[in-house]
Amino acid sequence: MCGIVGVLGTHEVSPIILEALKRLEYRGYDSAGIATVRGDGKLDRRRAVGKLVNLSDLLVHEPLSGKAGIGHTRWATHGAPSVENAHPHKAGPVAVVHNGIIENYAELRTELAAAGYAFETQTDTETVALLAQSFLESGLPPRRAAEATMARLTGAFALAFVFDNEPDLMIAARRGSPLAIGYGDGEMYLGSDAIALAPMTDRITYLEEGDMAILTREGATIHDGEGHEVARAIKQIAIDPTQLEKGGHRHWMSKEIAEQPGVLADAIAHYASEDAIKLPQDIDFSGIDRVVMIACGTAFYACQTAKYWFEKIARLPVEVDIASEFRYREPPIGPNTLAVFVSQSGETADTLAALRYCAGKARIASVVNVSESSIARESDIALPILAGTEIGVASTKAFTCQLTVLHLLALKAARDRGQIEPAIFGEMLRDLRALPGLINQALAVGPDIRETAFALSEAEDILFLGRGQMYPLALEGALKLKEISYIHAEGYASGELKHGPIALIDDSVPVIVMAPTDELFDKTVSNMQEVMARHGRIVLVTDADGAATAGNDTWRVLTMPTAPSQLAPILYAIPAQLLAYHTAIAKGTDVDQPRNLAKSVTVE
Ligand code: AGP
Repeated sequence: MCGIVGVLGTHEVSPIILEALKRLEYRGYDSAGIATVRGDGKLDRRRAVGKLVNLSDLLVHEPLSGKAGIGHTRWATHGAPSVENAHPHKAGPVAVVHNGIIENYAELRTELAAAGYAFETQTDTETVALLAQSFLESGLPPRRAAEATMARLTGAFALAFVFDNEPDLMIAARRGSPLAIGYGDGEMYLGSDAIALAPMTDRITYLEEGDMAILTREGATIHDGEGHEVARAIKQIAIDPTQLEKGGHRHWMSKEIAEQPGVLADAIAHYASEDAIKLPQDIDFSGIDRVVMIACGTAFYACQTAKYWFEKIARLPVEVDIASEFRYREPPIGPNTLAVFVSQSGETADTLAALRYCAGKARIASVVNVSESSIARESDIALPILAGTEIGVASTKAFTCQLTVLHLLALKAARDRGQIEPAIFGEMLRDLRALPGLINQALAVGPDIRETAFALSEAEDILFLGRGQMYPLALEGALKLKEISYIHAEGYASGELKHGPIALIDDSVPVIVMAPTDELFDKTVSNMQEVMARHGRIVLVTDADGAATAGNDTWRVLTMPTAPSQLAPILYAIPAQLLAYHTAIAKGTDVDQPRNLAKSVTVE
């Protein structure tokens, strides 16, 4: 999604803004731009389509001077990626950058056009710039013009404004999309997140919903949605610098895959002792009769996996929903329901809206990676997954950490509800502590996986199959592969194959089967036979026993370490991730910033 940066500096700001925009690249974008207030007081801007290197080249040939400015990476919503549609948008004496969607832009556009304002772009953002211009031209000073503009906008967004002849002023507003203010030494900063600001400052204020901030080099004055001046805490947000470097890896994704043993061990140690599970605030599952879990994408598949654990181990009914569907369905939520929201970024617009629907109706727990995110802050209890900063658009370590925290939560539920013997509970905790070691062993299968991935990269369609708790992993494996390799892939429940998808099978469609030897293994083997009888090529991902029993007739076998059954979905995420990664490498796609995708999806 779009990224915003702003700097009121003591030096030339365009190189500083460019560097900060690079740190926001991971969010996904298709064009970028910077506007500054020049020494003569006039606004100036440069914009370019494509990667930031294009903007950087442009700045070499056409430098942009000024010690105050705003920058933006744009992920197109309204209007194709083009220089005209790239931000900052400038209208007369004001320049604006925007993240989010102005929902009433069509109505505003008609109104502004009738008043004689001309549009140069197809964007919703241009209406904000023209609206601000109209208020400035009516005689309002910048702050009042920004306030009047905000009062006319509907939607979810973050905005930053700079003005002609105002080299010591930047105005920022948050309604729906996150925005953070950074405090420097005689300088002030603005960013979509703490990562953008990390090398400049660790003193950060997160704007709250409805806030508008007036920034000068002296500091920030913040007003809430009602216009009252408010004090917002300045927090020390230290981002581990190693999290912002690839550490010798070619891609963020491979670094993040490799980090999994370490981050999983951290998460397990954070929540589990020898014989107990400790949450930051207790959830007593004995009084809960239903859990609803809501998320998008990979986080949704983590919830679907957790449903198997909660229902089997804790005997607690779980409903899992995609946030974009849940939010408009108006489902009944009772007081004995626990609503669990899972999100790496903690800013996903649909998940946040679903959370707001449940607030006040049920206890809200969230499983998040970014502790300062909106979802974490609006939850009754936020459970950090401790994955560290995840930059690659394809979620990897966050997925396995989400699964680990959800598994711990299921064990806690089982204990609270008297569904598990203390000895078995202790054994399952021991199993979990051994998981990082097993993940290391799975990573060691990397070269075999790479070879298989290179063979897969020729395919146009690939199916993933899984049964029981491995079914959501089949969905996740397919999502990961299509996200970064652009190969069409679908996940199916193994038993569902013969109800339709089997029509797709021939020798050109590889079928990846995620099947540890568990009580369902034989049934999955039967489904594999059905595929092979139709000349389908099977990649069997299993353990040593599975390979010995069923690996002979398959096209390829990837052998995972033998693991306790309940942990297989976490362990088998590794081959799913590595298959996607190496296939993408073989295809030469942009692994970390795949086309059309954004890391944090802050629009509907
Ligand atoms: C995962 O690889 C995806 N890029 C995507 O599906 C992601 O999981 C989804 O957008 C949800 O994001 P969140 O966890 O930040 O809410």
